[in-house]
Amino acid sequence: MITKIKGTVDILPGEVERWQNLEEVSRRVAKLYDFKEIRTPIFEQSELFHRGVGDTTDIVKKETYDFVDRGDREVTLRPEGTASVVRCVIENKLYTSAALPLKYFYIGPMFRYERPQKGRQRQFHQFGAEALGSFSPSMDAEVIGLAVTYLKALQISNVVVKLNSLGDEESKKLYRKDLIDYLTPVKEQLCSDCQHRYLENPLRVLDCKVDMENTILKDAPKPLDRLNSESKKHFEDVRRLLDGMNVTYVVDPSLVRGLDYYTHTVFELLADNTNLGANATIGGGGRYNHLVKNLGGPDFPAVGFAFGLERLILATQDQVTEDEGLHAFVIALGDQAKLQAPRIARTLRHGGLVVDLDHLDRPLKGQFKQAERQKAMFLLILGEDEIEMNIINVKNARTGEQEAVAIQALYPTLIEKIKHEMHQCSGSCESCSGDCE
Ligand code: HAM
Repeated sequence: MITKIKGTVDILPGEVERWQNLEEVSRRVAKLYDFKEIRTPIFEQSELFHRGVGDTTDIVKKETYDFVDRGDREVTLRPEGTASVVRCVIENKLYTSAALPLKYFYIGPMFRYERPQKGRQRQFHQFGAEALGSFSPSMDAEVIGLAVTYLKALQISNVVVKLNSLGDEESKKLYRKDLIDYLTPVKEQLCSDCQHRYLENPLRVLDCKVDMENTILKDAPKPLDRLNSESKKHFEDVRRLLDGMNVTYVVDPSLVRGLDYYTHTVFELLADNTNLGANATIGGGGRYNHLVKNLGGPDFPAVGFAFGLERLILATQDQVTEDEGLHAFVIALGDQAKLQAPRIARTLRHGGLVVDLDHLDRPLKGQFKQAERQKAMFLLILGEDEIEMNIINVKNARTGEQEAVAIQALYPTLIEKIKHEMHQCSGSCESCSGDCE
């Protein structure tokens, strides 16, 4: 048997509806903040991620799916969306045609060669948003606000927003020096990877997945201690704006994130959820003021985030979702009725109704059973007698009420009945002003 690749999953009907809902909420919330959807290829020149995400990050060093294509090009399956969006903005010169800031969002598969576990796969999906062309702290706050609105819309509670600042290039340089000075005398106590990279990229040592409990790392100097005055002001402004927006957050001075392009604000969103475990990171992001320039574009500051959709699916798993089922199932008895049933179903479908009928030559009882399995709201029963009289019996599956309706009047009658069925109330709600029943 040929099986799927390790770290990938099949998303089957039943589960797909949850994904569609997640994607629908992502699009709806992004629209509220006027972010436009952008779609980039799932593979790019390897150099994009080496330069974009950073050569010494775990993602590029250990996790990318790299291959040489038949034209000898070095290609990488995208491990994240930010570098691709930036490449796309530069290549299409989007900054010349649209008003600034450019605000884009994306939903799609990403690929990282990681050890698969709950909420971690090798092919996974992200919903991400990127705002390019503004250095205003209000852009940082807006992007974090969007992330929080999104989680509210998904009814994910017990969320913590962790916030930190790495500062601008000058502050980062000072901090880098501090960190190397701190790590050099204790380097033997670091994991073997970090012993190699602490000089090249000391920030990555703080993000070490092998040695998370290492007190040396916990006691290391923090980026906030090295912010210059401009960076400090930016961070304070972001905080003030978030306070003004009633977005609660905690400052986590140890938060550095695993990608190299960040400057100033970095943040992560954690959820305390039984399906995910305590304090699971469901999304993260930050400001990246030099990525656009480093990839050959204009000097364009930017800020964004991405959520892992698998983790959001887990976080929302206990929410009850309605399997919508059918508006109607056509039950046909006898050759003549079986000949007419597909036409009736087709007419109703053309009118926008979700309709099905039997294709397994089931007896009457079997057809009723099938209608029930498919959660049909109405049963449309057609026998030889009905055909002779040019009528069809419309039975409400919930109440059992049944009415004979002229075939020509079936569509408008059914629409009325469906509307009524979908709007059940005691007759006193505002939308029907008491005449519902
Ligand atoms: P990231 O933190 O690498 O950031 O990924 C964002 C989210 O993607 C994570 O918080 C997690 O929920 C999800 N994720 C990452 N790897 C996996 C995996 N193997 N399986 C399942 N989910 C995963 C970025 O990717 C940045 N591009 C975010 C960003 C946008 N920063 C600025 N703009």
